[in-house]
Amino acid sequence: MLLKTIFRVFLANTFAILLLASGGSTPAYAGSVGNPTATPVSSNASAEDPWWKHAVIYEIYPRSFQDSNGDGIGDLNGITARLDYLQGLGVNAIWLTPIYPSPQVDFGYDISNYEAIDPTYGTMADFDRLVAEAKKRNIRVIMDMVMNHTSDQNPWFVESRSSRDNPKRNWYVWRDGKGPGQPPNNWESGFGHSAWAYDAKTQQWYYHHFYPQQPDLNWNNPAVEKAMFNAVRFWLNRGVAGFRLDAITTLFEDPQLRDEKVLPGKNAFGDPNESGALQSILPPMHTVLRALRKVTDSYPGQRVLIGETYMSAQDLPTMYGKNDDELQLPMDLRVGFINKLDVAKFRKRISEAENDMHGNQPLFVFDNHDQIRSWNRYGDGIHDAAIARIVATMLLTTRSTALMYYGEELGMVTTPPKTRAEVQDPIGKIGWPKEKGRDGERTPMQWTPGKDAGFSTAAKTWLPVAPDYKLVNVQVESAQPDSLYFWYKKLIAMRHNNPALYGGDNIMLNTSDPNVLSYLRKNPEAGPSVLVAMNFTAQPRKISFDLKAQGITGTHARTLLQNGGVAEHVSLHHVKLPPFAVFIGEVQ
Ligand code: NOJ
Ligand code: CA
Repeated sequence: MLLKTIFRVFLANTFAILLLASGGSTPAYAGSVGNPTATPVSSNASAEDPWWKHAVIYEIYPRSFQDSNGDGIGDLNGITARLDYLQGLGVNAIWLTPIYPSPQVDFGYDISNYEAIDPTYGTMADFDRLVAEAKKRNIRVIMDMVMNHTSDQNPWFVESRSSRDNPKRNWYVWRDGKGPGQPPNNWESGFGHSAWAYDAKTQQWYYHHFYPQQPDLNWNNPAVEKAMFNAVRFWLNRGVAGFRLDAITTLFEDPQLRDEKVLPGKNAFGDPNESGALQSILPPMHTVLRALRKVTDSYPGQRVLIGETYMSAQDLPTMYGKNDDELQLPMDLRVGFINKLDVAKFRKRISEAENDMHGNQPLFVFDNHDQIRSWNRYGDGIHDAAIARIVATMLLTTRSTALMYYGEELGMVTTPPKTRAEVQDPIGKIGWPKEKGRDGERTPMQWTPGKDAGFSTAAKTWLPVAPDYKLVNVQVESAQPDSLYFWYKKLIAMRHNNPALYGGDNIMLNTSDPNVLSYLRKNPEAGPSVLVAMNFTAQPRKISFDLKAQGITGTHARTLLQNGGVAEHVSLHHVKLPPFAVFIGEVQ
């Protein structure tokens, strides 16, 4: 499972190797930040803070969230109908994976028109209504912007491939082959096999970092930037709160097209492993990001740029920009995808996020539409429910901005296809049976124990509903005070309302303990701080805290949230933690 997940990261991001190696003003649009009644004050929070610094962002895979017209595919009106649920949960923003017109080869990540809505998902009027209804609930809408590549059906590419002297020829990466039938170099696509596709008509090869139906744009051509930034302005003008930038580190490739270094072994597609270093994180990307940030900053309302950045601890800080003028929130995927409850690793990576980002705001993520769900990656098959609470706690009680994925709050699991014939995601077809694709983590949202889990009324949904839907769903969990759903809801409310959790320093505690991860969210004002302790093992543990160095003189903690039967008032000298228990308490 672990290997596979890492591999999955590799599929979407050719620099996963680095990830492994790193072991290591009242804006027009803004409204108030989430649900706090008043902005709590602490060293990391002030009334001037941008909204995204304290936000909980919720990723929606629109195909799978709520179907409103009975065709078995989720849509925009479905999302609008579920905004009350999201408001109740306490989320501040939703990120929608791509909803633009697309042949759907990569389910929207192959865009054929950047300034329209795919009819499967609705109309532009539906989109505007979604943004307006979300705004009424203080929920912002973040779009997914795919700047590295387009669909091969995009008119830009259709023109580009029409002849070698077409004015758009140079919008994409076209090269001669090395010889007859031989691509320009050994580069591989993250989705299997050569990254070059031959175009018989013009007898040249085009580069595609992902599927052949996703030709890479040539970012050395200023016309590409102009067209893409126009699309960005189009959505900013419609009131979106920002963008999640897809595969942003792959914008540029080595201009000399040198061969990648071949590494030992083969990947799930049967291709030789390659370093991938010449196909991503090339420096000109920073120039584009600075220019893009100027565009988003020219709009009121603190628009945000989020990056899909699977990067090492060394590279990640560069994404904020030398003068904090690039991304506000590059994703720190090193924490959420450790994939093993390893106290030392979590401590190290959370500390790096705190200390090595030059004071910038981290963004933690444990789940997304490309990876096996955290329930399966962290669960041991016995204590999964408790472990899911640990994951939620790390996401929501650290100082990081939190990015969650639909259904994470319910404990939805990954349900991979059983046969190749069932597979929807092409990488599952290319890589079967080793790589089953990403369908398993994209199954329909589980709302009720009824037909299609309340997702749809269709006879057949685009992906099957996971078999556990009768027990794992919003309706059932909303009636169980100790459900995972309520665990998330309580954590989110605490994060919004508790001054120490809202903006207190994040100080790692008992840093040589190999079993219990603990930290203090220090409230610099007179009020209480928050102690978080999590038992990462299947054995009961006892832990003692001496918090004098942190200015805490009290001997007891008052329980705010716990699972596993930890008492109401706890002596700091012996906090007893049952297997995989979480304790969150106030100390002063
Ligand atoms: C990353 C996206 O998250 C993934 O779903 C997509 O397939 C690739 N980028 C290509 O756009
Ligand atoms: Ca539909």
